[in-house]
Amino acid sequence: TDVSLPINLWEYEQLAKQHLSQMAFDYYSSGAWDEITLRDNRAAFERVKLRPRMLVDVSDRNLSTSILGQSLQLPLLIAPMAFQCLAHPQGELATALAAATAGVGMVLSTMATKNLEEVAAVGYKHNALQWFQLYIHKDRGLTRNLVERAYAAGYQALCVTVDAPILGRRERDVRNTFSLPPGLQLANITNISGLNIPQESAESGLFTYFAQQLNPAVTWHDLEWLQSLSPLPLVLKGILRADDAVRAVEHGAKAIVVSNHGGRQLDGAIASLDALAEIVAAVDNQAEVLVDGGIRRGTDILKALALGAKAVLIGRPVLWGLAVAGQVGVSHIISLLQDELSIAMALSGCTSIQDIDPSLVTFKH
Ligand code: FNR
Repeated sequence: TDVSLPINLWEYEQLAKQHLSQMAFDYYSSGAWDEITLRDNRAAFERVKLRPRMLVDVSDRNLSTSILGQSLQLPLLIAPMAFQCLAHPQGELATALAAATAGVGMVLSTMATKNLEEVAAVGYKHNALQWFQLYIHKDRGLTRNLVERAYAAGYQALCVTVDAPILGRRERDVRNTFSLPPGLQLANITNISGLNIPQESAESGLFTYFAQQLNPAVTWHDLEWLQSLSPLPLVLKGILRADDAVRAVEHGAKAIVVSNHGGRQLDGAIASLDALAEIVAAVDNQAEVLVDGGIRRGTDILKALALGAKAVLIGRPVLWGLAVAGQVGVSHIISLLQDELSIAMALSGCTSIQDIDPSLVTFKH
């Protein structure tokens, strides 16, 4: 049989399906309710057209950039995603090693299945960009503990996810009564608090965990408290409106991730790419703006950067890489995107990330 490696991220998704339990594949791939936003994240990229420049010497191309002062080999970070050990025994450690060796960033989820200190050690060795994603629990002591540990471990920013006061309803997880298989736990939480994803739940165990443990009362006022816990800069993930972005800047956010959580929270929410331009304009260089949701090709990165993003995050494709081949799979996913971005830049007359400007895109069709 043919075991040649996949040649793009779509092939990784197809192959990953064969490596994952139904429950894990459903958890990874699904969106909320009718998955309108999940599909629209992709459709938004297809609506944007490129306006390539010709007759530019593109023999040498430089894809490097920097985010919050940290250099990257390409404008790419791995989005925070829970439960990566469902895909591969090395889970978040494999992802961290792949990201660090490729010179891309990684955001570690609060809901990781490897502990944050071990993951940080991988990044530290390679001088990698690593941020810690925070879910704010009702238990303030637990939340404080996570922030203090993230700072002590060497994470360079606190990425606060603001689009999940409660969990969106992903009906495939309801149907499967999603839970973690024996042996997997919340590596950063269970040890210190005994809390874990319930095994016996009438619906998604993750939904139940959120409803019981996360604080749905968090507002802008709590950002001050978060900032008092450590010197880490704040990144707000999940902003979809210009006025919220301005507020984020006023409250001291150093970066914003324009995101609808990969279509997993409010179904019907605007595609993240469609929200990008107004947010970039409103933020007016007072913070760095990143975007995620539906990025599957180098041309998607080009489009997002042309619309004003400083970098992009990828989610699910990393899980597909992990499921197929662990660290090697994640490394391959990253190098596929790197190659595609390099080709797309050449074909549109860009030799550096700075060359990617708004005139490269149009919504005309
Ligand atoms: C996520 N996402 C997410 N976000 C977050 O802030 N904390 C988390 O723990 C998780 N967990 C998570 C698990 C899984 C399985 C997925 C697919 C996503 C959202 C993630 O960071 C990101 O916003 C989206 O995944 C980006 O969209 P794409 O690239 O998956 O289309």
